[in-house]
Amino acid sequence: MTEQTSQIATVPDSDYVIFGGTGDLALRKIFPAFFWRFLDGQVTENFRLIIAAHHIVSRDDFAEKLRPNCEDAFTSGVANDDNFAAFIGLMNIIELDVVSGKGADNLAGLINEKISADRPCIYYLAVAPSLFGASCQLLQQADLVHPQSRLIVEKPLGHDGPSAKLINNEILSVFTEEQIYRIDHYLGKETVQNLMALRFANIIFESLWSNNHIDHVQITAAETVGVGQRAEYYDKYGAVRDMLQNHLLQLLCLVAMEPPSQFNASQVRDEKLRVLRALRPANSEDIVRGQYQGYEAELGRTSNTDTFVALKVFVDNWRWAGVPFYIRTGKKMAVRASEIIITFKRRPHDIFSTIGQSQKGDAPNRLVIRVQPQEGLRLQLTSKEPGPGGMRFFPSELNLSFGETFDQRLPDAYERLLMDTARGNQTLFMRLDEVLAAWQFIDPIIDMAKDTAPHLYREGTMGPADTLLAKAGRDWIDPSEDG
Ligand code: BG6
Repeated sequence: MTEQTSQIATVPDSDYVIFGGTGDLALRKIFPAFFWRFLDGQVTENFRLIIAAHHIVSRDDFAEKLRPNCEDAFTSGVANDDNFAAFIGLMNIIELDVVSGKGADNLAGLINEKISADRPCIYYLAVAPSLFGASCQLLQQADLVHPQSRLIVEKPLGHDGPSAKLINNEILSVFTEEQIYRIDHYLGKETVQNLMALRFANIIFESLWSNNHIDHVQITAAETVGVGQRAEYYDKYGAVRDMLQNHLLQLLCLVAMEPPSQFNASQVRDEKLRVLRALRPANSEDIVRGQYQGYEAELGRTSNTDTFVALKVFVDNWRWAGVPFYIRTGKKMAVRASEIIITFKRRPHDIFSTIGQSQKGDAPNRLVIRVQPQEGLRLQLTSKEPGPGGMRFFPSELNLSFGETFDQRLPDAYERLLMDTARGNQTLFMRLDEVLAAWQFIDPIIDMAKDTAPHLYREGTMGPADTLLAKAGRDWIDPSEDG
C-alpha cells in the first residue's frame, strides 16, 4: 500500500461488472485504474471485478495482457508480483453474449452470491453503444437491476441528437437517471477539477472573470498520435463528435459556468447546462475542419472525416457577452498538450509610456491552466527587471506546477470516476440534458460540414486554423511540450 492511504476516502465494498471486460478500453484504462485504487487501499479484497466477455480467457492470459498497461505501478516500486496476483484474484471472468443471453445465468449466480442493499453493483458497458440496449435488457430479464445497481456508459452516446436520445431511452427504460453514470473522462482529470477549485475556492479571480476584464479564452487539446488502430471507428465520428461534443465543451462549461451554490451533482450540472444552452449557434465562417495528410492512406479509402476542428464560439449571457472562446483539437499535431488560456484585457492606460519603457511590458496578463501533461497553473505578469536602468520590463510568471508542488503521482481520470460510482457521486458525470444540449449545438456543425472537404494539414503542425484568429488580430498561443 502507498503512504497516501490515510488520505483516501473509503468506498463501500462493491461489485463491478465490466461488459467488454477484455476489450481495449478495459485493458488500457479501466483495469489499470482499478489496480492503482487497489494499491492505494481503496479497492479491497472484498471487491469483485467481474469480467463479462464474448470470448472467455483464462485469468493467467488476462493478467499477462493487462500487466504491460500497469507498468508505471511496477516501475514506481509500488506494485510487485504479489500485489498484482492479489489484484488478479479479485476477478471472475465469465462468458456473456448480450444478444443471445448466453451466460446470463452465470452472471446472475455470481451477483446473487453477494447481493445486498448496501453493496453497490456497478455495470460498466465498455461495449459498442449498439449493445447498450441489449445489455440493459439482459440485466433486467435476469432480475439484476436493484436500487443499489448503477450503470456506467461511455461516449459516443450517439452520433447526433436524435440517436443520442434513442440510446438514452434504451438505458432509461431499465435504469433511472440517478443510476446512470455517463463518463466524460476529462471531468475526472485532476486539473479539470482544479479549475473548479481555482474558480470557486478562491476569491481573487471571480471579480476578473467576465467580459469586463477578459479579452478572450483559448482551449486547446492537441494530440500527437493519429487514429492508428481505431481508424474504422474514428472515421464514423471525427474530431467534432469524438472530442468537441464532449471533452472540449465540458472544459468550456467549467470555465464559463456561474458558481453553483453547492458543490453537488445537481447544482454543478445545472450550471453547466445553462452554459450549453447559452452557446450561440456556430457560424460556418467560424469553424475550421482539418484532416492530417496520410489519414486516407491509413484508412484505405477517401474520407471527409475531420481529425482536427477549431471554432470560435460565444456564450450569450451577461457575463460573457462579446468574449470569443476559441477552441481547437486535433490529432498528429506538434505537441501533446491540453491547455486553457484566459487572456485578460490590456491595462486601460499606460503610465510608463512617457518614460519610453512600456514596450516590453506590453504583453497582456494571461492565466494558463495546463490540463495535461505537466499539470499546473501559470499566471503571466509583467515585472521590472532588477537593478539600475529605470523601469525595464520583462514578462514573468507565477508558476504552480502540481507535479513539483505535490510530491505524488496524479491519479488517472478513470480512478476518480470509478470510485465516484461506488460512492454514488454523479457530480463528474454528464446528465442527459447536458448531453442533449451539447448535441443541439453540435448537430448544425456536422450538417454544415457534410458537403465541405476538411483542410489538409501536415503532421507535426498545429493544424490549419490560423485565419480563425488572425481575422480578429489575435494569434493562437501554442502550448509547449514541457508545460
Ligand atoms: C477519447 C477520444 O475520448 O479521448 C480519443 O475518443 C482521444 O480519440 C482521447 O485520443 C484523449 O484523451 P486524453 O485523456 O489522452 O487526452
